[in-house]
Amino acid sequence: MKSNQITVEISDNRKEKPAFSSLQFGKTFTDHMFVMDYTEDQGWHHPRIVPYQPITLDPAATIFHYGQTVFEGLKAYLSENEEVFLFRPEENIKRLNRSCERLCIPQVDEEIALEALQKLVDIDREWIPNVEGMALYIRPFIISTEPNLDVTPSKSYTFMIILSPVGAFYKEGINPVKIAVEQEYVRAVRGGTGNAKTAGNYAGAMLAQKQSGKSGYSQVLWLDGKENKYIEEVGSMNVFFKINGEVVTPELSGSILEGITRKSVIELLKHWNVPVSERKISIDDIYDAYKNGQLEEAFGTGTAAVISPIGELFWKSEKLIINDGKTGELAKKIYDALTGIQTGKVEDPFGWRV
Ligand code: COI
Repeated sequence: MKSNQITVEISDNRKEKPAFSSLQFGKTFTDHMFVMDYTEDQGWHHPRIVPYQPITLDPAATIFHYGQTVFEGLKAYLSENEEVFLFRPEENIKRLNRSCERLCIPQVDEEIALEALQKLVDIDREWIPNVEGMALYIRPFIISTEPNLDVTPSKSYTFMIILSPVGAFYKEGINPVKIAVEQEYVRAVRGGTGNAKTAGNYAGAMLAQKQSGKSGYSQVLWLDGKENKYIEEVGSMNVFFKINGEVVTPELSGSILEGITRKSVIELLKHWNVPVSERKISIDDIYDAYKNGQLEEAFGTGTAAVISPIGELFWKSEKLIINDGKTGELAKKIYDALTGIQTGKVEDPFGWRV
């Protein structure tokens, strides 16, 4: 299929744009969306940009019953000269296809997916907030649509992309969040779907999040599902610790999402000659480092929040206050560098900006 086959139907009923500065994360959507269908006989076909609208599905569609679905998240930024930038979009498309493989969903053509992203963002470019710290969040996703209650891969799918102007993911923004170490539930196990971006991982995480919220914590720190000892992720983000000058993040074990911000932070730190390593790190290592006064910083990384410093970790009835509960110097430096590259404010020596 040739990429120029994406058809466009422009909406004649444009929505009124909200005041961008008051936006909450993921509650407002733009005027258009991208849609492409898959059937066994035609493969992926009929790529189109159409007015944003509800979709109709058979109640027996497998997505509702067995959750055969994958998604992505990336952002479009407006530069001071009104140029539109995407950040490493090809990485998201590659990860979408890796998630598809894990969920038995047919992969999409990378070229078409990238062209769809670019075309859709261009059509709705007026929705990119020109406000510091805000961006247009892009949500590509694929759902299984075949009406079939048998537990078997669907024979039909829909790939869609929707857009949402967003502000801060956590209400704290770049200010530190409080995190409780989760001791009852786990997010994923090795061999499971933890490294795929699929709905079930997020649905399964909500109860722990809800319970931590009741105790005043923004999110939980996930430990591994086997020994309940090794750190995996924080909330829906990857996690980094700065211990005695070295930055450490859990190694990719199969149950951890291969974050694009995670990968960029590692590359950035290497570029700055800051010691960084990917390895197994236990909650006991963190506790010991804290007690020895060597736990200098902790922060989450993800597309939505970019960098989210951790000011407090609650572990076994003890509150570990990190960096006096303030945003660490390194977290701020990484945040400024990444958002600077993303918005075109600083040089991009890596070629990440598209
Ligand atoms: C991210 O950090 O980008 C996430 O994965 C959160 C998203 C599910 C809203």
